[in-house]
Amino acid sequence: DHNKLALPVGATLDRFIMRKQEDFPYATGELSQLLRDIALAAKIVNREINRSGLIDIAGAYGNQNVQGEDQQKLDVVANIRFIRALRNGGEVCTIISEEDEEMIQTGNLQGKYVVAIDPLDGSSNIDVNVSIGTIFSIYRRMSPTGRDGTAADCLQPGTHQVAAGYVIYGSSTMMVYTTGNGVNGFTYEPSLGEFFLSHPDIQTPTTGTVYSVNEGSSATFEPAVGAYLQQCKEQGFSARYIGSLVADFHRNLLKGGIYFYPATTKSPNGKLRLMYECNPLAFIVEQAGGKSSSGTRRTMEIEPQALHERCPVFIGSKDLVEEAERLIAQHA
Ligand code: AHG
Ligand code: MN
Ligand code: MN
Ligand code: MN
Repeated sequence: DHNKLALPVGATLDRFIMRKQEDFPYATGELSQLLRDIALAAKIVNREINRSGLIDIAGAYGNQNVQGEDQQKLDVVANIRFIRALRNGGEVCTIISEEDEEMIQTGNLQGKYVVAIDPLDGSSNIDVNVSIGTIFSIYRRMSPTGRDGTAADCLQPGTHQVAAGYVIYGSSTMMVYTTGNGVNGFTYEPSLGEFFLSHPDIQTPTTGTVYSVNEGSSATFEPAVGAYLQQCKEQGFSARYIGSLVADFHRNLLKGGIYFYPATTKSPNGKLRLMYECNPLAFIVEQAGGKSSSGTRRTMEIEPQALHERCPVFIGSKDLVEEAERLIAQHA
């Protein structure tokens, strides 16, 4: 059965998506089209990022988003590009974006999907030429088509995701995604304008020796988290923290390690957002054999209450996340 044969490294993303679709006999191709729309927007954003030193696109936009952060110009540009691609593609009825307080209705009333997106992750790193990203999460709408998507369509737990992924704009640009059947990574070849399969069936190491956390706020961690951090150091782990979640996550996914952003005095629920940061990466890490937890429960089982809610997160290699959970349970 040629459909079941793994595609070779070097297959284009478009071909890979089409072949995967053939594996689902009743698939209509709408999810495939949606993934291609995201890849197209990613190429456009990649172009803007690469030119950002030359055109007037770096720096602050002069506005704050709903999280009280200063928006960067590229936050705004990436948000516009992704929303436009999803609206034009027609498969998505409603979008949640980090950069918009309310749900965005695309007007595609027949669209079967809802997307949550962090259009530009790590935006404090734009001006200093450090890797940044995009994170997305895809749900099937629950309400009937023919009208706008609802809050209930948007506030589904992570276990309902049908696909999730990220783009990393780094030393090379990559798109990594899952549809619940393993994780595959594609590297962008800019001279051809195509993503090619470069990292088939990514499995994350069961354990690792890297910890990634903003240690500057460790004085305000809860005692259990402080104890876990101390243990990482006593075991001689390496500290690696870029400050772009996508880049920190991507490194640990490939090499093994743990990323955590716990509750702090400044951010009592942690800083990262459940719908478009924690859940999509949780789906990917689980599909790659890793784990994601709030410290006390599986990230993907949290019942979301608000579009922009935050949650503490411990994510990465299975053994390391379980050890953090164990210490937290012990201190409770
Ligand atoms: P965003 O740029 O989408 O607002 O996300 C910023 C996030 C994440 O990328 C990063 O890991 C984290 O903020 C860094 O926070 P600290 O500066 O508090 O460490
Ligand atoms: Mn932001
Ligand atoms: Mn982010
Ligand atoms: Mn962002």
